[in-house]
Amino acid sequence: MYESVLDLFIRRRSIRSYLDKPVEKEKIDTILKAAFVAPSTCNNQPWEMIVVTEKSIMDEIRAKFSFANYNAPCAIIVCANTHLCRNIKGMYIFDCSAAMQNMLLCATALDLGSLWVGVYGEQSIKKISDIVGLPKHVVPCGIAYIGYANEVKGPREQFNDKRVYEQVYDINRKHRARPKNMKKLT
Ligand SMILES: Cc1cc2nc3c(=O)[nH]c(=O)nc-3n(C[C@H](O)[C@H](O)[C@H](O)COP(=O)(O)O)c2cc1C
Repeated sequence: MYESVLDLFIRRRSIRSYLDKPVEKEKIDTILKAAFVAPSTCNNQPWEMIVVTEKSIMDEIRAKFSFANYNAPCAIIVCANTHLCRNIKGMYIFDCSAAMQNMLLCATALDLGSLWVGVYGEQSIKKISDIVGLPKHVVPCGIAYIGYANEVKGPREQFNDKRVYEQVYDINRKHRARPKNMKKLT
């Protein structure tokens, strides 16, 4: 498999429908290796990953997270062990986000579908911590759904030169946010 890095990035899409087919352990291991080479603050590498493939646990996640009610056969919960964050606190969300993106891109390279499921706020943190038994010092930062895609989503570019400035910011430039009434995420 050979493709340009940019083509790979453009090919990654959020997949919300999966085949009833498990992901091979070797592929999961490759995805985890991709996560562990992410950049991190002071090279702290504060991440710990929970790989969930048991259907009963997946079902519990689906039931408790309405924005994650998709039939992926596998989830990798990206956690930060705050005891591993030396020198500077509060940066682990960036470290874990870098690890997450590495995983999604690696999954794409392996022809797997993936989805970043957000874990945000006390309630969500408690819900997922209870499901997989996390102690207080291990903070869930996000969930990667992984599986074989049961939907076809085309690659698409989103480049917008209005968001790029030369040397200094231009306060007169007007921007449009994504329309509020756009119900379906595509
Ligand atoms: C931090 C973060 C949290 C997200 N949480 C969810 C989520 O809970 N459920 C979901 O279906 N998609 C979630 N997404 C995926 C976005 O909706 C998706 O990336 C966006 O619509 C763009 O589509 P694309 O990934 O196909 O480019 C999340 C993405 C990010 C970066």
